Amino acid sequence: MRPLTHTSAKQLVPIANKPVLYYGLEAIRDAGITSVGIVVGDTGREVREAVGDGSRFGLDVTYIQQEEPLGLAHCVLIARDFLGDEPFVMYLGDNFLVGGIAELVESFRTGGYDAQILLTRVAEPQFYGVAELGPSGEIVSLEEKPAHPRSDLAIVGVYSFSPAVHEAVRAIRPSARGELEITDAVHWLIERGHAVQSHLVTGYWRDTGRLQDMLECNRIVLERVEPDVRGTVDRMSEISGRVVVEPGAVVENSVLRGPIVVGADAKIVSSYVGPFTSIGPGCVLNNAEIEYSIVLDGSSIHGVSRIAHSLIGRNVEVSRADGVANTHELMVGDHSRIQVRA
Ligand code: G1P
Repeated sequence: MRPLTHTSAKQLVPIANKPVLYYGLEAIRDAGITSVGIVVGDTGREVREAVGDGSRFGLDVTYIQQEEPLGLAHCVLIARDFLGDEPFVMYLGDNFLVGGIAELVESFRTGGYDAQILLTRVAEPQFYGVAELGPSGEIVSLEEKPAHPRSDLAIVGVYSFSPAVHEAVRAIRPSARGELEITDAVHWLIERGHAVQSHLVTGYWRDTGRLQDMLECNRIVLERVEPDVRGTVDRMSEISGRVVVEPGAVVENSVLRGPIVVGADAKIVSSYVGPFTSIGPGCVLNNAEIEYSIVLDGSSIHGVSRIAHSLIGRNVEVSRADGVANTHELMVGDHSRIQVRA
């Protein structure tokens, strides 16, 4: 997700114009949890600004500062006072899970386990924590990002724990990447005979760490949006499918083919916006074509066709260059990725 993550928290990249993190907070609230500790690192200020005291979500939010990214088990370690001796859910802020966690939390509440993990089948398990299950579904082994995965069952970033985990996170040692791995803490619990339950998630799940995952999550959410046009759309424009146009947005002489969302105060003139696209608040599109993309707040696209499979950050300008044909004029930040078909 570089270069976006140089300037902002990846958990705040929007899906259908709403930060990924908000979906998680809503899922937590809908599971009947009201007290939330958010562990923040160097993007803490931005996360605090976006979530505040949590009252907007019906949550009571406390912030816990992690001075260095020393791992997920380290997050549990530094949250010890906040957590007290209560059972809790750990939800990774960049994970996106359709269908919420209410049933899972209920099954943990009634099951009497010390840990509950969620698993899902993935194509590239080497990028995740990986579980190996025995004949009756019991967890035989857990490994963090193994070079040679023993199964295709990835660990989803939503865990439930009893206070027994506190001993585990104190006992384990840093992994090869120098982090206290929550995977190792769960493994420690299993080895010592604690009851650890796993559930197979069959619904949609993504760790939103990569562009294609972000675009896919955006597609999934947009497929479910209720059409709602509250901005101004002139009679020259054509709208079809699930289209949301937020208040203050103006659409003139354009084709909007849903599902798409157009953020507040955006302006779309003589343009085409195709399926699975989120246009952020305050964006301006003029003589542009775009589809299957996410554009963040305040960006503009002028005279460019056709943009697809793209993630465009905040206050970016994309425009047609005048002058010599077949030349591209670029001024882009570090670690950007641009694919041009000339
Ligand atoms: C973390 C966990 C990993 C899990 C993944 C899910 O990975 O360590 O076991 O599969 O989240 O998103 P990380 O985000 O640290 O790469």
